[in-house]
Amino acid sequence: MFSYAIQTHIVFGDGVVERLADHLVEQGFGRRLLVVTDPGLVRAGVADRVLDLLSGAGFVPRVFAGVKPNPDESVCAAGRDAFLEHRADGVVAVGGGSSLDAGKAIALLARQGGAPSDYARNRRPYGPPAPVCAVPTTAGTGSEVTRSAVITEQRTHQKLTLKHAFLRPALAVCDPALTASLPADVTAHTGVDALVHAIEGATCTLAHPIARAYAREALGLLFRALPAAVRSGDPASRHDMLLGSLLAGLAFGSTDVASVHCLAEALGSLYETPHGLANAVMLLPVLRYNLPYAREGYAWAARAMGLAGDPDDDARAAEALVEGVGAWLQDIGIPKLRELPGVRPSDFDELARLAQDNSSTPSNPRPMTEADYRAVLEMAYAE
Ligand SMILES: [Fe+2]
Repeated sequence: MFSYAIQTHIVFGDGVVERLADHLVEQGFGRRLLVVTDPGLVRAGVADRVLDLLSGAGFVPRVFAGVKPNPDESVCAAGRDAFLEHRADGVVAVGGGSSLDAGKAIALLARQGGAPSDYARNRRPYGPPAPVCAVPTTAGTGSEVTRSAVITEQRTHQKLTLKHAFLRPALAVCDPALTASLPADVTAHTGVDALVHAIEGATCTLAHPIARAYAREALGLLFRALPAAVRSGDPASRHDMLLGSLLAGLAFGSTDVASVHCLAEALGSLYETPHGLANAVMLLPVLRYNLPYAREGYAWAARAMGLAGDPDDDARAAEALVEGVGAWLQDIGIPKLRELPGVRPSDFDELARLAQDNSSTPSNPRPMTEADYRAVLEMAYAE
């Protein structure tokens, strides 16, 4: 049994951001808008460009550029205050996963009150947020079409996942040109995050045929396009990466992620490791650990990525996924766990506890205890 629904209106293509205002009007957004973004995009001139596009069409925008990587509850509270002061009607979130997730949380808090942890810890029921338009500037997050937002709880430093259909943006404006100037390392890290969304979304315990249909297309696109996007960043590879990331978002957005994300979010909690990089580092160790429990799913993924053919039996195809992904990660320059700043084996108990506590742990194809997570961390550190 599965159920599937998505209410996000998606606009995709080179140059679509130029008609951002038209898309907002078509979807019934009010005039007063809070543009949620980060200081880097302000420096890069992207925030000003969005402001011009909106002001020129009669909207009354205000920028909130307080988003930082791994956004916490104070970022969301400041954004909510900016929304209320501006008497905004809706949010336009522009950026990577941090800005999109913060934008979704701000729109919820502005209309429904409370703090992010109240929702994630079931102390407060979700209700309709202010309408959100998501404009991704990285090819990785998929947050433009998902029902979740990851926010760090200040008290515990834990990454909390807010998850409800209400959190899906009303509008996603996906313009590959906005990703053109991403540096090679950010392209690599966010791109691997997208691939992990497709693998985990399609092979977790909640996977269903619609998620697999999206993920199959996503895996083919992402696996082919990322090395070129990292090396040259040509428009064709940028296009395929953003499309692959969107499709991966549609895949895991109705199922879940799994243990790669649980460990990545633990690393983010303890060391502020950027989300994409943390996922990229943990992908191979988790694939290896899950392998005996995920043969069918991993064989399916290997075939979608062109790493195995139909005649290969599942055991051989699943092995080909692990080998192929390992070589691919090396090719695009992903570091090993021990090379990440701050990582110490003395923290592994804490990391394992945080990962096991993650709400996506039950979705992993292999049942995971704290001891299992510790074993994965030790294996990864020894590589
Ligand atoms: Fe992710």
